[in-house]
Amino acid sequence: MQGTWTPENYAWRDRARKVADEVIRPLAAKYDRAQEYPWEIRDAIAKAGLFQVWIDKAYGGASGGAMNLCIVVEELSRACGGVGVLFAVNALGSFPLIVGGTEEQKKRWLPEIAQGKTLTAFCLSEKLAGSDAGALMTRARRDGDTFIISGEKKWTTNGGAANLYTVFAVTDPRSRSKRISALLVEKDTPGLEFTKEEDKMGIRCVPVREVRFRDCRVPASNLLGGHEGHGFRHAMKTLDCARPGVAAQAVGLAQGALELALLYTGRRKQFGQSVIQFQAMQHKLADMATRVEASRQLVHTAARALDAGATDVSRVAAMCKCFATDTAMEVTTQAVQCFGGYGYMRDYPIEKYMRDAKITQIYEGTNEIQRLVIARALMKEAVGLDHLNRFIPQEEQFVDPEMREALAEAKAGAAT
Ligand code: CAA
Repeated sequence: MQGTWTPENYAWRDRARKVADEVIRPLAAKYDRAQEYPWEIRDAIAKAGLFQVWIDKAYGGASGGAMNLCIVVEELSRACGGVGVLFAVNALGSFPLIVGGTEEQKKRWLPEIAQGKTLTAFCLSEKLAGSDAGALMTRARRDGDTFIISGEKKWTTNGGAANLYTVFAVTDPRSRSKRISALLVEKDTPGLEFTKEEDKMGIRCVPVREVRFRDCRVPASNLLGGHEGHGFRHAMKTLDCARPGVAAQAVGLAQGALELALLYTGRRKQFGQSVIQFQAMQHKLADMATRVEASRQLVHTAARALDAGATDVSRVAAMCKCFATDTAMEVTTQAVQCFGGYGYMRDYPIEKYMRDAKITQIYEGTNEIQRLVIARALMKEAVGLDHLNRFIPQEEQFVDPEMREALAEAKAGAAT
């Protein structure tokens, strides 16, 4: 919004918008149909220096932080939701390194990620461990100065395209709180195999694969942070950092769909006038625009909290992810409605926005999980509200005195 952005924010927006309008938009439908990774788009994003945005200058990045990352993701997703995640998933895959990596690990991999040469993937989910991420079963056994990984991962976005995989595996099955560790696995490691490639409803230009580890041996120096047992915390912290990025993808999708709906309803004539002249259509568009802006502001609140180094970001990260992605589903569906029958057809670009939006309510934690994270934070906050108790009458005050006596007698009777 005018006045709240820095010149740096505008510069990142314009840089991303140029790539989105000149390179991504003309190619979006082609790669959606082909369900192929668009290497030419990856190259254009890398050439524009956009992969540098979330990485510190010390590691070859631009120190743009979460706010500028979200601005870039929104712009790319406005043109294509698939490209939005193709880009943002590299932030997800590199956040474990950023939040938990040793200095040596950061120096080794972050500069190549900032150049777009190394693409990353985040291997947490398994067939039997989706929302219940802590139930994962992939094993990593220590063997001298190596770890041997065996197991299978599900829903690996960027699987096969990425060169670096952050893999969460059980290193101590007997421990409750230190069961899981994170390991960095390079693509050419023997024993790392890419199996099923999913045929998806949306985000079709980015691969989602099953990844199998058959006695896949990695050096112990690839243990994230150099300590066993910190994997689950690293995963949770990573998701706190990454969820505003998914939310920004959703804002971009919703904004892009809204713009196409505005254009189309201004052009389409029925009953002798543009359909945008009908008040019902104006109200629909007004509601869509309001929800998009509310989502954007919540995303920026979360991003600014991350950039300020706030430690209690889980709640606001979950809020923006949940609200913005529900908004994207609602707004893209309404945008299809604005196009009438044409909106349902693949000749028009709008149905792709609706297909791309759906996954944002599911991945990086379903919106049911986001509500659980928010509710848990709220329940903790309720403890600090004890001083307000005296303003809420106790239920007994509303009970009829005779009834109270009868209840007391019944209670006493039950006790004897
Ligand atoms: N930051 C740091 N630590 C955290 C944390 C956070 N945000 N959240 C939890 N923890 C810690 C807790 O403090 C606790 O530590 P102790 O054991 O030392 O007490 C530990 O982690 C366990 O926490 P919980 O008891 O809260 O864990 P839980 O089993 O109840 O699960 C959950 C919590 C929020 C439901 C979690 O399992 C979760 O986020 N699930 C969703 C997983 C998810 O988002 N998956 C998507 C993967 S990415 C993807 O979609 C694919 C892709 O490629 C895009």
